[in-house]
Amino acid sequence: MKRIKVKDLLASREYGKEVVAKGWVRTKRGNKNVAFIALNDGSTIHNIQVVADLANFDEELMKKVSTGACIGVKGTIVESPGQGQAVEIHARGIEIYGEADPETYPLQKKGHSLEFLREIAHLRPRTNTFGAILRLRHAMAYAVHKYFNDKGFVYLHTPIITGSDCEGAGEMFRVTTLDLQNVPKTDTGAINFEEDFFGKETNLTVSGQLEGELGAMAMGEIYTFGPTFRAENSNTARHLAEFWMIEPEMAFYEIEDNMDLAEDFLKYLIRYALEHNMDDLEFLNNMYDKELLNRLRFVTESAFERLTYTEAIDILLSSGHKFEFKVEWGIDLQSEHERYLVEKHFKKPVILTNYPKDIKAFYMKQNEDSKTVRAMDILFPGIGEIVGGSQREESYEKLCTRVNEMGMHQQDVWWYLDTRRFGTAPHSGFGLGFERLMLFVTGMSNIRDVIPFPRTPQNAEF
Ligand code: 4AD
Ligand code: MG
Repeated sequence: MKRIKVKDLLASREYGKEVVAKGWVRTKRGNKNVAFIALNDGSTIHNIQVVADLANFDEELMKKVSTGACIGVKGTIVESPGQGQAVEIHARGIEIYGEADPETYPLQKKGHSLEFLREIAHLRPRTNTFGAILRLRHAMAYAVHKYFNDKGFVYLHTPIITGSDCEGAGEMFRVTTLDLQNVPKTDTGAINFEEDFFGKETNLTVSGQLEGELGAMAMGEIYTFGPTFRAENSNTARHLAEFWMIEPEMAFYEIEDNMDLAEDFLKYLIRYALEHNMDDLEFLNNMYDKELLNRLRFVTESAFERLTYTEAIDILLSSGHKFEFKVEWGIDLQSEHERYLVEKHFKKPVILTNYPKDIKAFYMKQNEDSKTVRAMDILFPGIGEIVGGSQREESYEKLCTRVNEMGMHQQDVWWYLDTRRFGTAPHSGFGLGFERLMLFVTGMSNIRDVIPFPRTPQNAEF
């Protein structure tokens, strides 16, 4: 008989029907006559209750039905007399696929700390919390593709191994096959990358944007959605060394169009979660953050506040608030500044534009004032920066000047500059950090808890 998923069993009202369910035992309770087994298979946060009349089952077999064990159950769907579920299964047969020794299985009890669960990331998907997070993560990934597909964007696969540093921050993981015990050198003593696999220096990408722009300059509207890597040594609750980023890039978009798209996109994703994943959201709301659902609804309903970096600095300066990092025009906003604007001042998401050019990447469109660039960052409550983007500099001359000013080499990005030589166009794009989105959607407070296997400094287990 074919297995039916717990989610479908719970929705079924075909009382008396013979079914097979398979999954992992969450709990077993009962008395000397009957056992109640809560079975979960990952298809929903809810368990199905399996009722086993002990007179019909071997005692040795029932001992093996313990928390964490994997079992298959054959039985009939019955209307449940108990509270909390409409249906249950009355078991006729139980098969043990895998035992879980109660002496050593780490998820014996409920209520483990998130810190402890991080140390057993290989087993934490079996908890209610991570089941909910993983289903939400899947739903958000699906909604990203659906949103762009419905709008006619093309999903562009940008490379993971690249020779360029998009953000110019130098926080890259090197990719090499050189023998680290015996690195080949040139006559001048430098590392001879000509002998490396690609014949040049390569690294894991920090962003798919530069290649994304190449796509937009032919396909019009593209997006990327892939892993990105940053070797920044920041052990914060908002940074990962390996994270996923969604980067749309659009020809003929000015900065305002870019902001409109980003705001619409974020609201769409949050609405999607509210419409499709209520069970999981309610669980997280009840267990971790009683304001989660309110906050999600609030963001879908409110217009994001739009202002310039300069206006934001003025607000911070006249706030009277004591910040750890001094506020003055030209600084890179710290998360305490961003959160003051969003959580204290405006009390809603904020889009900041026109940042000083010296704190932003080389590709951003330069403003007339020659001091600022057409950047846009979106700041979210509880998160800080969730999106970073800009209109791109489309002038070949201006871009070359900026490349030189920033000490980059034109020959390293000749292919990028070529798009400005041949059929350049006004265009814009942005990057949404997928795990920052997941932090917001799940209400979790540590980014290590919204990706299955987090990569952070000194941590690449599993
Ligand atoms: O602001 P960033 O560095 O922008 C770019 O990479 C642009 N090339 C994007 C573009 O215009 N196409 O990164 C974009 C977003 C941030 O706003 C943040 O949400 C996320 O990526 N992010 C990180 N998320 C987790 N861990 C990190 N270390 C992150 N660094 C950036
Ligand atoms: Mg940024």
